[in-house]
Amino acid sequence: MIALVGFMGSGKSTLAKALGKHLGIPVYDVDNMVARLAGLPKMVEVFKTGGESYARRLEAEALDSITGSVGIIDCGGGLVTYQPSLEKLQSLSQHIILLRAPFELVKQRVGNDADRPLFAKEEDALELFNARISQYEFAATDIIDIHGQPVEDLVNEVLEVTG
Ligand code: S3P
Repeated sequence: MIALVGFMGSGKSTLAKALGKHLGIPVYDVDNMVARLAGLPKMVEVFKTGGESYARRLEAEALDSITGSVGIIDCGGGLVTYQPSLEKLQSLSQHIILLRAPFELVKQRVGNDADRPLFAKEEDALELFNARISQYEFAATDIIDIHGQPVEDLVNEVLEVTG
């Protein structure tokens, strides 16, 4: 199992889909799994109804439902900040790959996205970004620096780090 972690807008979902297709293995989109568990259309609605702590607990529950041993886990940007989820992710995954993108890039990509509740105010998002970096680096077994390279190149970089 390969897990992708990193801030909103680092490109986890795009890369997860490309990897799943390239390798012919399942993709576990944790945001979608959480929404399904909550009986809501999207992760943003889970935040609106139950708040962040509810969403974090459901992320841990979603990880519990992953039974296969091969696949790509596309994590929401805050999943590794909740210790029980981090531990589950570590026990599920051979590789936890951090997509480390600069703030300017993630801002360009998601700065105006109504589906990203934690990106509503830029200065709050920057503060969160700075606080998260060390958490991501702590969780990661491998790091890929993101600077806008095409997804095909990222697939190859993942294949290199996972051997
Ligand atoms: C969050 C990131 C989002 C989603 C939720 C909270 C976060 O996922 O889980 O809005 O705390 O960083 P993406 O990283 O897929 O946007």
